[in-house]
Amino acid sequence: MTVTAQILYMASATAFVLGVRLMGSPATARRGNRLLAIGMIVALGTTVMVIPSFSHVIAVLGVVALGTIAGVWSALRVRMTAMPQMVALFNGLGGGAAALVAAGGWPATSGSAGWLALLTMILGSLSFGGSAVALIKLQEWMRGVFWGMALRVVGILAILAAVALAVFLGAVGTAHLSAAILLMVMSALSGALLTLPIGGADMPVVISLLNALTGLSAAATGFVLGNQLLIIAGTLVGASGTILTQQMSRAMHRSLGTVIWGNKIHAQGGEASEGSVQPITADDVAMLLRYAKKVVVVPGYGLAVARAQLEVKQVTDLLQEFGVEVLFGIHPVAGRMPGHMNVLLAEANVSYDQLWEMERINPRFPKTDVVLVIGANDVTNPAARTQAGSPLYGMPILNVDQASTVVVLKRSMGKGFAGVDNPLYFDVKTRMLFGDAKHSLSALVRELEGIA
Ligand code: TAP
Repeated sequence: MTVTAQILYMASATAFVLGVRLMGSPATARRGNRLLAIGMIVALGTTVMVIPSFSHVIAVLGVVALGTIAGVWSALRVRMTAMPQMVALFNGLGGGAAALVAAGGWPATSGSAGWLALLTMILGSLSFGGSAVALIKLQEWMRGVFWGMALRVVGILAILAAVALAVFLGAVGTAHLSAAILLMVMSALSGALLTLPIGGADMPVVISLLNALTGLSAAATGFVLGNQLLIIAGTLVGASGTILTQQMSRAMHRSLGTVIWGNKIHAQGGEASEGSVQPITADDVAMLLRYAKKVVVVPGYGLAVARAQLEVKQVTDLLQEFGVEVLFGIHPVAGRMPGHMNVLLAEANVSYDQLWEMERINPRFPKTDVVLVIGANDVTNPAARTQAGSPLYGMPILNVDQASTVVVLKRSMGKGFAGVDNPLYFDVKTRMLFGDAKHSLSALVRELEGIA
């Protein structure tokens, strides 16, 4: 590789590291995304530049063009609620590609590079199989899976058999196409079988874990091909995927083992809530909000389902015109994917300064006049603090029940992801505004405009 190519690869690796750093805050995320895209363009250009034969250049450019068209087309079309499926799809393709590249490079390897090629085939295919099933389940093409434990046992046996085969092949030291295919099929099957019994809503954690595997397999491919950029980029993906998996599990108060090995938090547990709920109308909510000094909006999964982010922005703009202080309380696992609420609200141009994370907003609730809970349920459930038998017990929540008044916008008394009752709805200071969040918020906008 020429010195120029090495410098360009280093430049794109630097862009990747800085880009990921900038993605850490909503205020700089767009810049981070652009920097990452530039890094990827430089990396692709450099790769094309170092290809020795012209016919290969044409083939690579054709494949890059196809991938770009498919990527841009799906990114423009995908709905926010379908984002986890898209991540699963791209992640699976990344893992599968890493495995195929390693299989292609395997015959030319020797020593440790040969072992790494085998490892990449296992990890990449595992991620491919798991991501394919995650996509199918998230898209709801498949509901309910029986024999969960049997599938897990066969999945474990398949991966153990794949590892044994890889050890044998590595020890023998000769590469065979049929052996590579067998190894990849066994690993992909294991990924699929282990993912099958996992509940659809647990899938973001699993995708994040599979993402880490894809990153590691890409890094290992980098060693096989002697490509430093691939090593750096793969390690970045592997490390960030691992950290994200840990953080998500912690925020949901579940161990990774519980997510993978079953025991969905759905179903039993938690004391039934008693008492009656107090419904409220949009005009009464408008009056409450209009004369409040401090309001906190708590968005959740229902906001994404209703696609009501623009209406929320309209309500908060009107309130600010009345001189009401409005903040948003963001729970780390509100919604169904990391950063779900931040992305939704950014789409509606809600100012980043108004988005307060859980640790920062919680001390504010006792001083808050009205909390508007929009399509959020589990992340506000006080049972997480008080009911030792609840499956949510111990999960950090937004302490909205400490505010003077709580208004909950949801369609019914339907449960959230955890499938348990929420005592907040029976609290004397809680009012329920039933209906689709988009309709309720549009009604609130009309009422607030009427007051003005
Ligand atoms: P949930 O607890 O799932 O509650 C969402 C609520 O939104 C439901 O109770 C539902 O009630 C309401 N809703 C649905 N569609 C609506 C609509 N069109 N208009 C108004 N309301 C609507 O959501 P959450 O509070 O955001 O908590 C997230 C949960 O997902 C947590 O348990 C978390 O652990 C889990 N989870 C999160 C992630 C990540 S990374 N974010 C990943 C996996 C799992 P109705 O049916 O009565 O309307």
